[in-house]
Amino acid sequence: MKIFLVCFTVFIAVLEIYWIVRCMEYARCAYQKKQVPFVASDRTLRRAVVREIASRYPNAKNICEIGSGYGGMARAIARRTGANVVALENMPFTYFVARVADFFTFARRVKTIKCDAFEFLGEYDGVFDVAVAYMGPGINDKLKPYMDKFRVLILLDVSLTDGGADYVVDLKHGFTRYGPLKYPHKLFIYENKK
Ligand SMILES: C[S@@+](CC[C@H](N)C(=O)[O-])C[C@H]1O[C@@H](n2cnc3c(N)ncnc32)[C@H](O)[C@@H]1O
Repeated sequence: MKIFLVCFTVFIAVLEIYWIVRCMEYARCAYQKKQVPFVASDRTLRRAVVREIASRYPNAKNICEIGSGYGGMARAIARRTGANVVALENMPFTYFVARVADFFTFARRVKTIKCDAFEFLGEYDGVFDVAVAYMGPGINDKLKPYMDKFRVLILLDVSLTDGGADYVVDLKHGFTRYGPLKYPHKLFIYENKK
């Protein structure tokens, strides 16, 4: 009984610390960094991204996830497509949780890097077969100067403001809420023709 109480108390303490740190990071994203905080993609989005990559770009071997959060999407892509995935995340606690999750799920094909995604892309001198971003309105547009770093860019739910997607896949189920607005689940696929 005593052991049970000790374990239960430790579990509750860890949970509380987790929520406090997560809230602090959330506030930092919203007020200091002015970026979308971590919100995990749901199963509908992950399945759709994996399906589109596997069916349209079966030869993609080198994939990048921009703003990878806890890495659920990156691991799903690596597991289901067999590609290597570079996952970019700039928030320290979110990155730490992602690394722990990568370790415990034996995600050997996922390389999670703590960095500002835009700085990383600026310095990266290769080309990714596919890049995936779930970054929210306005922020997706910051990817425009780096379009030559991807053969294909898949944006989740929010297109570039000037549109121009080669394919739009309407998932007809679910949405993401950014502030007061709901964005129905859609994939906006841009192919780099250069
Ligand atoms: C909406 S979440 C997406 C999480 C993940 N892609 C998924 O599908 O579950 C956006 C993530 O992007 C990260 N992020 C935002 N701006 C970033 C930047 N400039 N560099 C790296 N990560 C960034 C946030 O910290 C957050 O974890």
